[in-house]
Amino acid sequence: MSNSNTKRQPAEETATLTARSVWDRTTRWFHWLNLTFVIVLAGLGLFILNEKSFGVSGDGKILLKTLHVYVGYCFAINVAWRLFWGFLGNRFARWPSILPFEKGYVTGLRGYLRDLFADSAPVYLGHNPLGRLMVMLLLILLCTQSVTGLVIAGTDLYKPPFGGMIATWVTGGDPEMLAQLVPGSKDHVDPAAYDEMRRFRKPIVTTHLYVFYVLMAAIVLHIAGVVIAEVRERSGLVSAMITGQKVFDKTPADADFPDV
Ligand code: HEM
Repeated sequence: MSNSNTKRQPAEETATLTARSVWDRTTRWFHWLNLTFVIVLAGLGLFILNEKSFGVSGDGKILLKTLHVYVGYCFAINVAWRLFWGFLGNRFARWPSILPFEKGYVTGLRGYLRDLFADSAPVYLGHNPLGRLMVMLLLILLCTQSVTGLVIAGTDLYKPPFGGMIATWVTGGDPEMLAQLVPGSKDHVDPAAYDEMRRFRKPIVTTHLYVFYVLMAAIVLHIAGVVIAEVRERSGLVSAMITGQKVFDKTPADADFPDV
């Protein structure tokens, strides 16, 4: 980890700022790719949700969903890679720095909240105790969207990874029907099996929709948290996700956290 000293000397400020490397390159790439995919997926998802108002039907509907699924694959791979990186990344990218399950976490969180309201909360190299909760919530929501999305991509569009299995289910495995199966159409299916598949898919689509709403709310909270922390700490939180470095004018509370 680099640990360089940088002196900023605007008109009246003479405090020494220490720059510390925090977010590794993979974490930064994950963050901005994820943001891009979420914006595109939410946009396409809103289109799908309001397709009637936009006058989209038939092939247009299938095209929209197919596009959403292809971007969804990129999104899901990025999320899966981040989960994996939780075992390989630097100390701030790894699970022990994110998951709030270690002994003493709740006490630490209470103390942090108390200090926060007294405007005396310490600064952190990595996530503060409240930030860890938010990151965990965001990752859970992103994973849920990935899993539910991958399942529903198989149900109507017969796309991988489950599309082959579901196509066999709705056609009863009949090779002729399988060959003529059309995404989004009720032709060339066994009607009873198809209805059964629709019943199976319904709660998954509902989960995908409600998690979308919760995710949008969580993103607003996440941005609010970043703005509040930045105003309070002035450690360059946003630029740190680009350069990897935060700056401090006092010793961070987790400066002695053991390397993992
Ligand atoms: C942050 C990620 C995602 C967001 C915000 C999102 C959002 C949405 C929204 C709002 C809808 C409309 C729901 C509805 O019609 O009831 C939708 C539908 C859909 N999503 Fe996603 N989605 C995400 C990820 C994914 C992924 C990873 C996949 C699969 C690879 C996927 C596959 C689908 C499919 C197939 C539909 C159409 C459902 C239907 O047939 O009605 N989504 N998504």
